[in-house]
Amino acid sequence: PALAESFIDQQLAELRQQIGDKKVLLALSGGVDSSVVAALLIKAIGKQLICVHVNHGLLRKGEPEQVIEVFQNQMDANLIYVDAVDRFLDKLAGISDPEQKRKIIGKEFIDVFAEEAQKLEGISFLAQGTIYPDILESDGIKSHHNVGGLPEDLQFELVEPVKLLYKDEVRVVGKALGLPDNMVYRQPFPGPGLGVRCIGAITRDRLEAVRESDAILREEFAKNGLEGKVWQYFTVVPDIKSTGIIDGKRSFDWPVIIRAVNTVDAVTAEVAQLDFGMMQHIVDRITHEVSGVNRVLWDLTPKPTGTIEWE
Ligand code: XMP
Repeated sequence: PALAESFIDQQLAELRQQIGDKKVLLALSGGVDSSVVAALLIKAIGKQLICVHVNHGLLRKGEPEQVIEVFQNQMDANLIYVDAVDRFLDKLAGISDPEQKRKIIGKEFIDVFAEEAQKLEGISFLAQGTIYPDILESDGIKSHHNVGGLPEDLQFELVEPVKLLYKDEVRVVGKALGLPDNMVYRQPFPGPGLGVRCIGAITRDRLEAVRESDAILREEFAKNGLEGKVWQYFTVVPDIKSTGIIDGKRSFDWPVIIRAVNTVDAVTAEVAQLDFGMMQHIVDRITHEVSGVNRVLWDLTPKPTGTIEWE
């Protein structure tokens, strides 16, 4: 904590020195890295920072609301909220190849962000939540669209105040800056978001099933003290249906797949061993509370051979 304080003091001084009275733009996803960068810059330069939060419709339940609550309401930041849900889902309609989905999401994100940037005047800097591992890693198996920086075509000078920090250090800094625990200690979430957990061509019904089942899973893990203990846990909805019985009638609905893994570096991963009663309770809640779902499967595959995400 003392180290965090001195890091923060030093960064605030350096940021003020670098930025002066100019304006800075930041794509604020609500993830740990961009949130910490936002909190630092709000402290350093207040309203000279303009945060843009793009809701691409692939965020988890409650995420856009939390970004608005924390940054606009509590920290009084300059925040532009862009509802781009229809735009993303229209572009993704009928696209089933995972890499193509990632490319569309990545490109659309840059386009939306660049359009917002062009509407603004007098922006000199672009802030980014680049952290040290981003610079080192790119496993070559899947394209990670948030690695390597955002809009290459935008001519701004970069501000990257956490680029020499590891993730756990970023969390310590975020905590010291007063960000809420569920933001600072949140599990990793891919840039393409729920888009790669709604298997194949994304449809709104299955996307909602992913979002609702994910919210139930997170709620139950939190209730059982597993938040921050299990490395990553989420749900997936494939594009197959199976037969079941709901309220005494035949149903033909989607399954939900649950994946909960532990890992050190995401290169290999093991399946989290969990209390069976808790697992049964989660299955019960998802099958009863998520519409269009009649079955739950638990993924017991380590990485390798499975990757952590299904796409
Ligand atoms: P895989 O599925 O490759 O995932 O075992 C390893 C870690 O990377 C995350 N992941 C992504 N993160 N953009 C991201 O920002 C992506 O396209 C992406 N694909 C996977 C995954 O959630 C896991 O933490």
